[in-house]
Amino acid sequence: MTINIAIVPVAGLGTSVLPLTKSQPKEMLAVGRKPVVQYVVEELASNGIERILFITAQGKSSIAAHFDIDENLIQYLREKGRESNLVELDYERQNIEYFYTRQRRQLGLGHAVLCAEPLVGREPAVVALGDSIIGRHASSNIVSRMVDAYESEKADAVIALEPVPASHVDQYGIVDVHDENADYLRITGALEKPTIADAPTTLSIAARYVFSPAIYEALKDTSTDRNGNLQLTDAIAYLIDRGAKVVGIKLRPDVKRYDIGNFDSYFKTFLEFTLTDPIYGTEMQSYVRNCLKHQEEQD
Ligand code: UTP
Repeated sequence: MTINIAIVPVAGLGTSVLPLTKSQPKEMLAVGRKPVVQYVVEELASNGIERILFITAQGKSSIAAHFDIDENLIQYLREKGRESNLVELDYERQNIEYFYTRQRRQLGLGHAVLCAEPLVGREPAVVALGDSIIGRHASSNIVSRMVDAYESEKADAVIALEPVPASHVDQYGIVDVHDENADYLRITGALEKPTIADAPTTLSIAARYVFSPAIYEALKDTSTDRNGNLQLTDAIAYLIDRGAKVVGIKLRPDVKRYDIGNFDSYFKTFLEFTLTDPIYGTEMQSYVRNCLKHQEEQD
């Protein structure tokens, strides 16, 4: 795989899940036995990514600490005879080099991606949102498929897409496409959080992208929205308007995007990952069944 660098923006304020995020990053919220951002990194590692550039911010230092190799903790576990816990730290030794830069003002996802330019330079790169897991337990190969498409289609950008109910289009970036049934969809337009009436399709942008360096010029030429945020979706629309080749790939039907940026989706993700946990899943299923039975008896 030729693209082996990913930009992971984790600098957002996470105001939609306050008070959880008052003093901890939303990307460090637990989903089952791991923080969200660990799933993102494991997914990227299993898709051939070897370098990760986090776009981080004030109050997010626990993310960098999570990926450090903690020799003191390892020694402590050994001394206490708790070697069995060491396997939980295996992720520290993944074949990944970590880099960090700061988005000093939260001016939107597009602005966060632009912060990568001085470091990533003229290389194409994957962008993976740090608050979204793709596939149950991060089991997706969408990034590899997107990189293949980027190369074989000689695309300027490749975007992961997931169909959403029409009533949800106003929560996502939504694309217009040439032929909804093609393997590689030619994207002809992109709108950030449209109304149901304005949405050209129900295909949402699903938190994974591959970009050529042209994205940085597009971001610099894109106007901010009415809240002063620079939207990545608007820069994609700008690229399309200037004739760039932007390709979409749908997540397979059995693969979901788990966005933990709002309580509804966070609770559902936590529940699903816990109920399917290889160690605790069976016990949790019977616990939830009992809770529901008890609830029904009381109603
Ligand atoms: P969101 O728009 O969902 O994150 O961005 P947010 O700004 O934290 O959301 P609110 O405050 O609840 O409305 C998706 C991803 O982009 C990053 C976030 O950290 C998240 O991983 N992001 C967003 C940035 O890095 N910088 C930004 O300025 C905005």
